[in-house]
Amino acid sequence: MNSKKQADLTEKLDLSRLPVHVAIIMDGNGRWAQKKLMNRVTGHEKGAETVRMVVKTCRELGVKVLTLYAFSTENWQRPKIEVAALMTLLRKFLENETPEMLKTGIRLRAIGEIDMLPDSVLSPLKESMKKTMDNTGMTLNLALSYGGRAEISRAVKRISQDVKNGIIDSSVVNEDLISGYLDTAGMPDPDLLLRTSGEKRISNFLLWQIAYAEMFFTDTLWPDFTRDEFVDILLEYQRRNRTYGKVT
Ligand code: FPP
Repeated sequence: MNSKKQADLTEKLDLSRLPVHVAIIMDGNGRWAQKKLMNRVTGHEKGAETVRMVVKTCRELGVKVLTLYAFSTENWQRPKIEVAALMTLLRKFLENETPEMLKTGIRLRAIGEIDMLPDSVLSPLKESMKKTMDNTGMTLNLALSYGGRAEISRAVKRISQDVKNGIIDSSVVNEDLISGYLDTAGMPDPDLLLRTSGEKRISNFLLWQIAYAEMFFTDTLWPDFTRDEFVDILLEYQRRNRTYGKVT
C-alpha cells in the first residue's frame, strides 16, 4: 500500500476518540515462517519489525498505553532453542529501542513474572524502565512471562497478606482495590483487544482488565500485519457503540 493510502486512512480517524489503551496478542509468527518454509525464529524476527511499526503508529496517533503479549508463562515450554531466540530478540529490542523511546517520550513498563527472565533480558529491561520512567508520551507495556490467572493469584495473595497484617480491612476490598494490586496498577483497562492469526482465544491475557474491551480478531499473521490494517481496526473501533451494559 502506498503512503497516500496511509495518509487517507489516518485522516478518517477521530483522534479525540482513540482507544486510550490498546492490547495485542501477537500471534502467527510460527505459521508465517512455516508458510515460507523458513525457521520459526525468522517469523519472530519479522514479528519484531511489526512490533516497531505498531509502537510507532500508536505513538504518532496518540494512543496512551500499548500492551503487547510478548511472552506467556506457557511459552517457557517451547523448545529451548526457540525460547533462547525469543530472549535474544527481546534483548536486542530493548538495547536498540531504548534510545528511540527516550527521544520520543515512551515510558517502558513490564507485567508478568519478570524475575523468571534470564539476566541478559532482565538487566536491559530494568535499565530501560528506569531510564524511561519519567516519560509521559506513551506507555509501552510488555507482557513477559505473563499469565492472567497467575497475576490474579499474586494479587489475591498480597491482598490477603495486607488484610492479615492489618494494612487494609477486608471491607475495603472492591474492584478498584483489586485493580491496584494487579501488575497493571495505575494503567487504564484496555479499550481494544486485538489478536492476529485467526485464533479466537484470549489465552490467559489480561483476564481481569479486558472486562469491557472491544475485541478484534484478524486472520492476518502478525509478521504480515500492516499499519493500514491497524488503522482500519481503529476506524472500526470508532464505529462501535460502547454501552458498558447500559442503554444509550
Ligand atoms: C506468537 O506466535 C508469538 C510469540 C509467542 C512471541 C511474540 C514475539 C514477537 C512478536 C517478537 C519479539 C517481541 C518483541 C516485543 C520485540 P507463534 O509463535 O505462537 O505463532 P504460531 O501460532 O503461528 O506458531
